Amino acid sequence: MDKIIIEGGNTRLSGQVTIEGAKNAVLPLLAATILAEEGKTTLTNVPILSDVYTMNNVVRGLDVDVAFDEANNQVTVDATGDILDVAPYEYVSKMRASIVVLGPLLARKGHAVVSMPGGCTIGSRPIDLHLKGLEALGAEITQTGGDITATADKLKGTTIYMDFPSVGATQNLMMAATLAEGTTIIENAAREPEIVDLAVLLNKMGAKVRGAGTETLTIVGVDSLHGVEHDVVQDRIEAGTFMVAAAMTSGDVLVKNAIWEHNRPLISKLMEMGVEVTEEENGIRVKSDVAKLKPVTVKTLPHPGFPTDMQAQFTALMAVVSGESTMIETVFENRFQHLEEMRRMGLRSEIMRDTAVIHGGEHLQGAPVMSTDLRASAALILAGMVADGVTTVSKLNHLDRGYYKFHEKLQALGATIRRVSEEG
Ligand code: EPZ
Repeated sequence: MDKIIIEGGNTRLSGQVTIEGAKNAVLPLLAATILAEEGKTTLTNVPILSDVYTMNNVVRGLDVDVAFDEANNQVTVDATGDILDVAPYEYVSKMRASIVVLGPLLARKGHAVVSMPGGCTIGSRPIDLHLKGLEALGAEITQTGGDITATADKLKGTTIYMDFPSVGATQNLMMAATLAEGTTIIENAAREPEIVDLAVLLNKMGAKVRGAGTETLTIVGVDSLHGVEHDVVQDRIEAGTFMVAAAMTSGDVLVKNAIWEHNRPLISKLMEMGVEVTEEENGIRVKSDVAKLKPVTVKTLPHPGFPTDMQAQFTALMAVVSGESTMIETVFENRFQHLEEMRRMGLRSEIMRDTAVIHGGEHLQGAPVMSTDLRASAALILAGMVADGVTTVSKLNHLDRGYYKFHEKLQALGATIRRVSEEG
């Protein structure tokens, strides 16, 4: 397994960085291609990430033709044949996000078998809201031998109130409802930009989805959907990660083709700290002087609240800002593991259930650290840039799930960083 070695100290990032298509958009978009009974679907601006390869294999395992043209960042899917209704355990078990094939597969085939996703390091990740919603649409759900089997001759539109605005459950139910009989209303739906991107694709395919981006979705069922072309929305979390990297290194970075609207909760917190964030015609510019930044309190919430996927990275920024900052993680129950690792770098913090108090501004020291999940990996690398001495981050399989050429992009901005194989 590779590791990343960072020489910290006085890194000041400057220049421009380009953002990829969003991991958390392309995965459900790939699942949605299953719905097209005629014509091929081509997704462009597809990021080269290990999770994309995994989802391609999940869809391919349904006897669907999936061609990934990495050189042009595009995937073409032909689901026009008589596709299978059992998602391949080998790949589904690798990535819990595969669960979003359940809704479209059930809608297309009237029967679907998908293995039950396990938990992960950041939380137990139940799927009760997915299953409850599909049952409300008339599906019969059984769970045997670690598999979920869903059956429904024809899903029937209904009104579903979601106990929690789950992103994945909203996506599963929205996709299932596109081919249901009648109208489905999903209340307390997730509002993330990735939900909007999925609705745009579905409507291009011939679906009738209204209200995406608000807490109420209305989906009028249609008979069939067809293949289209669609450009994956920019990755707001990758963009946010580089915005935080610039802020914590007293940098001056233009995050190219980042979308201001998608990052408003993060931008508002950065500005509250004293970071200069400006909207330019081709992206978002971030300038800061760490010495002048003030500590803040942040609470993660479903969109349009502060994104939980920026929590770890933001705690690295809090670590360099003098004073006591507070991070409250309300979305996942175990998402502070990066702080345990940063303790090895000298960070003082107290964690009480969903709240972490961070004593920032005391110099971090470089150390060997281990990443526990995707965003923790990014946070530890960012911390390594500002720590005195050398930091080595291992277990990079997590990082490769959600960031493309992360260390090269940081290197191009001025970080002293390299990636070596464990042996090296
Ligand atoms: C998506 O996960 C993202 N993943 C996550 O990004 C992101 O953190 C999360 O949304 C929240 O924004 C993808 O899009 C592939 P949820 P998802 O269902 O859909 C509880 C990253 O780093 N819940 O909104 O799994 C759940 O336990 C990843 O890119 C239920 O209780 O998130 C959690 O506490 C990490 N029952 C909360 O809701 C359910 O049936 C949010 O989960 C479903 C969820």
